[in-house]
Amino acid sequence: MKNNHTYIGPIHEVLPMTGLPERGAVADSDLKRLTAQGILMKNGKIERVDKHGTILPEAQKLGAEIHILNGKYCALPGFLDSHTHICYAGSRAHDYAMRNAGKSYLEIAEAGGGIWDTVTHTRKATEDDLVSRIARRANLLLSRGITTIEVKSGYGLSPAEELKMLRAIRKAQKRTPATLIPTCLAAHTIPREYKGNAAGYIELLVEELLPQIREERLSARVDAFIEKGSFTPENIRPYFKKAQELGFDITVHADQFTTGGSRVAVDFGAVSADHLEASTAAQIKLLAQSNTVATALPGATLGLGGSFAPARKLLDQGAVLSIASDWNPGSAPMGDLLAQAAIFGVFEKLSNAEILAGITTRAAKALNLGHKVSLEKGNPADLVLFRTDSYANILYHQGQLKPDQVFKNGKQVFKTALS
Ligand code: NIG
Ligand code: FE
Repeated sequence: MKNNHTYIGPIHEVLPMTGLPERGAVADSDLKRLTAQGILMKNGKIERVDKHGTILPEAQKLGAEIHILNGKYCALPGFLDSHTHICYAGSRAHDYAMRNAGKSYLEIAEAGGGIWDTVTHTRKATEDDLVSRIARRANLLLSRGITTIEVKSGYGLSPAEELKMLRAIRKAQKRTPATLIPTCLAAHTIPREYKGNAAGYIELLVEELLPQIREERLSARVDAFIEKGSFTPENIRPYFKKAQELGFDITVHADQFTTGGSRVAVDFGAVSADHLEASTAAQIKLLAQSNTVATALPGATLGLGGSFAPARKLLDQGAVLSIASDWNPGSAPMGDLLAQAAIFGVFEKLSNAEILAGITTRAAKALNLGHKVSLEKGNPADLVLFRTDSYANILYHQGQLKPDQVFKNGKQVFKTALS
């Protein structure tokens, strides 16, 4: 059974991310820190996490593929980026410069830039071209320790073009070891062809697109951007209602500039409400008392300016907080989850434990993964290793300490050229 077992050790410090509260605030003292460990993986799953001295002989007996580490390393579950738009063509560097010269995101969108510019480029791209772009970006994220990546459509904005995007995401799965979780964001904004007729566009999505996605099993998740200039809480209802009937999970771009989306998210029992930069006391309370994960997207704040989502208040009131990159060409071009999460923690006063839970166990909840991601027997052997003697250095270096190795389903899929 030689090829089925993989072993790595000794690992100076393992953060299994087990035993943490599912919601609310978490102190660093709640983090379990195991020392001098080894991790035995079997058929892509974690088999055992224990003292190196104890399980190395067992791994040898099993004929495992053995990775012996020299120096001090810290291992955590692979990170999850629960909100990205990495299926796109074109650049919005011009928008970025215009914003920094004083124009607002909404003004640029109204002037024909913004999301519509990316729609134009993405519609022109072939499916294969999009496959390459997604795979390239996903593999870059994998090298940064992200082993599960949500990927939205939403730059097609017609049934044919949205299907092209979702099929491209499916094909890209064959070109990256990272798990891609596709989400239909056909209700990203109202396409030009339906200007002034949001209801007509929604009807098209309900009648044609959602059943087809189900039929081809292209996605199990549906998202919408509820915002001034895009969809209102009222006109999005038939879309989410149909999505629910067809068994999709719902997620919402909510409260980015104006409030309203989080109410819809909670009413529909959405798995997550994402953005929340504009959320005030009422929305914070609503989310904290619901089962909808509050997903903060600090990359959008760093891309647009403005305020961060009120993560500290959300956690203190008991919300489940996930943190994602929102990588997209417009509002969040950086795409570096670890750097963003670390910087976000400085501004929102988040403990290391809250940040790390936000990109591992709590991000898994936002994606309704159906399995756990903590490092314990039976869970996927997805792990990231940093060359450092303490986990605290990972966030301290604000994204500049890069992973040394990444394992996905028990296989080493990245190793730095530096070691
Ligand atoms: O999550 N807010 C809406 N959608 C994206 C931005 C997409 C874009 O600007 O291209 C977001 O920030
Ligand atoms: Fe987004």
